[in-house]
Amino acid sequence: MSILEETYTLTGGAEIPRLGLGTWFIDDDKAADAVRAAVEIGYRHIDTAQAYGNESGVGEGVRTSGVAREELFVSTKIAAEVKDYDAAVASIQGSLATMGLGYLLEHAEMVPQVNQLLVHAGNTPRELLEFCEAQGIRVQAYSPIAHSAIIENPDVQAMAERYGVTVPQLCIRYTLQLGTVSLPKTANPEHMRANAQVDFEITAEDMAALEGLEARDYGEHAAFPVFSGE
Ligand SMILES: NC(=O)c1ccc[n+]([C@@H]2O[C@H](COP(=O)([O-])OP(=O)(O)OC[C@H]3O[C@@H](n4cnc5c(N)ncnc54)[C@H](OP(=O)(O)O)[C@@H]3O)[C@@H](O)[C@H]2O)c1
Repeated sequence: MSILEETYTLTGGAEIPRLGLGTWFIDDDKAADAVRAAVEIGYRHIDTAQAYGNESGVGEGVRTSGVAREELFVSTKIAAEVKDYDAAVASIQGSLATMGLGYLLEHAEMVPQVNQLLVHAGNTPRELLEFCEAQGIRVQAYSPIAHSAIIENPDVQAMAERYGVTVPQLCIRYTLQLGTVSLPKTANPEHMRANAQVDFEITAEDMAALEGLEARDYGEHAAFPVFSGE
């Protein structure tokens, strides 16, 4: 079975596809094409956020993808500035209107079921992963390719070569083997296809090596709070 068809079951009963398409830095006017291409390739999980400025394009892509809404898992996130219940409700309604979607997670209960964390080879928050697992919270790995600089890492390149895969494929497989949902971002359909070809097994020894690795070079985007923690 392709990774695109594999899911985890959340505590509320919803099925979340193990591989999703990240859309941060895909411009609003390019997002619908990217989403349609991804759905055509077989992706059934799309991740956006108010802060990405592309909810409108992502929503259009979902609505015009040719695949029924209930077969697509769509995540968005309300802006970090929204701090109280009423503002959150209004903000979610705003996202639904912007996206032109009737619902996000149907039958969602007010208990945490997923948590997005910065997880990639070179940054593995082991304690937090174990805490989430103990609470029944499924972790979604954001920036699973470390936002890209890791592609040039010679040690990771050498390991990827041993498996006959690319660095992005190795990195995505790493996050999947940790038990997380993986959310690689790309607007390039060739990359979307390649990122779904992760049907290989990283050995326990190499998993440990990738977990021990430190690689936190986020380039010009290092100051973003999602990387700096500030
Ligand atoms: N909750 C949060 O706070 C949070 C924070 C950050 C991110 N996220 C989510 O996580 C997603 C992924 O994180 P991210 O965007 O930081 O980075 P990422 O997925 O770790 O890396 C994306 C980079 O890798 C490149 N890439 C992807 N597939 C490739 C391939 N097969 N070959 C070569 N290069 C490839 C992309 O370039 P191309 O576009 O050219 O393919 C892009 O430069 C985001 O888009 C967003 O949905 C959530």
